[in-house]
Amino acid sequence: MAYAGVQDVRKVGVLAAHPDSVLAAQRAGCGAIVALADEGVAARWPLIVAQADVVIAPEEFAALDKERYSATRAHRQRVLLNPGPSVVSDRVHRAIGGPDLCHREPEYSDILERVRAKLLDVAGVGDDWAMAMLAGSGTSALESMVLSSVRPGKKLLVCRNGVYGDRAAKIAERAGVEVVNVPASDLTPIDPAAVAAALDANPDIDAVFVVHHETTTGLLNPVQAIAKEADKRGVLVAVDAISSLGAEDLELRDTGIDMVASTSNKCLHGLPGAAFVLISPRGQRRIEEVPPKTLYFDLAAYLAAQKKRTVPFTPAIPALYSLDAALDELMEETLAHRKELYAARMDAVDRDLAGLGLTARVAPEHRSRCVRSFPLPEGYDYDTLHDQLKDRGYIVYAGLGDAAKTTFRVCALGSMTVEGMEGFTAALAEVVG
Ligand SMILES: Cc1ncc(COP(=O)(O)O)c(C=O)c1O
Repeated sequence: MAYAGVQDVRKVGVLAAHPDSVLAAQRAGCGAIVALADEGVAARWPLIVAQADVVIAPEEFAALDKERYSATRAHRQRVLLNPGPSVVSDRVHRAIGGPDLCHREPEYSDILERVRAKLLDVAGVGDDWAMAMLAGSGTSALESMVLSSVRPGKKLLVCRNGVYGDRAAKIAERAGVEVVNVPASDLTPIDPAAVAAALDANPDIDAVFVVHHETTTGLLNPVQAIAKEADKRGVLVAVDAISSLGAEDLELRDTGIDMVASTSNKCLHGLPGAAFVLISPRGQRRIEEVPPKTLYFDLAAYLAAQKKRTVPFTPAIPALYSLDAALDELMEETLAHRKELYAARMDAVDRDLAGLGLTARVAPEHRSRCVRSFPLPEGYDYDTLHDQLKDRGYIVYAGLGDAAKTTFRVCALGSMTVEGMEGFTAALAEVVG
């Protein structure tokens, strides 16, 4: 290491032909251990048991190095400026290496319980709220929430000003739930007065659905004011907080909001695979009154299992480990600090892109702390911009729908610093400058 000028043993890769060399490399903490052996289980088994990262024939090494280890490999760590999965800390990455675990054992129940307690804490609600933890992406939580919110013969009011409002309407309609739409453009927040008018015109509406943060354009909807209108009329409110929980202000206690869907891998900084619905006591009673429309997304089954400290189906245990660690990280950091950091990162983006003549499409007062939709720089199509930024280590995200040809998105979710965002804005300036 001294001869090569390498300080960190994790940067050392070892080629090993004997199990003892694999074990020595593990003990030293080397970053990669490649075992070389001829074809055939007899030659390879001792190296597999010793747990090399990979066992290959010597002549395969050049191809493996190109794909997995070389500085120019296609698949390498980059800064993700897409709206999730987000960049997570080393600590969260390490957490997924927890022990193999059976979800019918008390050790799993203890983890599930403590994740629930931490999520309720982050959400600012009491122990009377329930949590349904699903193995799936955010849409699994969204789908289960939408399908469990409306009683037979009643309607769902859907606030629609982006693709995620549209998605909720599609979920409901596919399951035969009648939808009343309250639309707005994807740059305009939903008007609470329009929700109130629709509720008054349709007394058979059983629940209101609204996306807190429409990731389509980085637009915040006035969920509290919408919930107030629904609450006045005794109508339950279900919120998609998938890209907002942990980063945006969301009051839940006694606000008329009864169900909140979210996921581990956006503003909470866990890895993908665990999604959840937080449910108030009134929401829990509603779920009991809605006959299940599917097997997997039946929230009543999750609530019944939760009472027994478990889940109905095989959980995404590594994702739960990651969420547990990510919530510890959040509580140590504090929610207030996380929100400030998110705001500071996006302030840097707004400031530096304004210097390049790019202004976010959503008006400043309606912008979130983590997503921006910008017009494409003059003379650029999305693919060219994306590829040139990717070469520099940054992954930006395409616009959606009609805006796909003329816009791009910059999202700052996850474990990133303000300086990291400034690295991105400097790279963008270099590309378009
Ligand atoms: C507001 C919102 N709802 C729902 C989803 C869907 O989440 P997933 O892709 O994890 O299923 C997303 C994803 O970005 C989102 O931003």
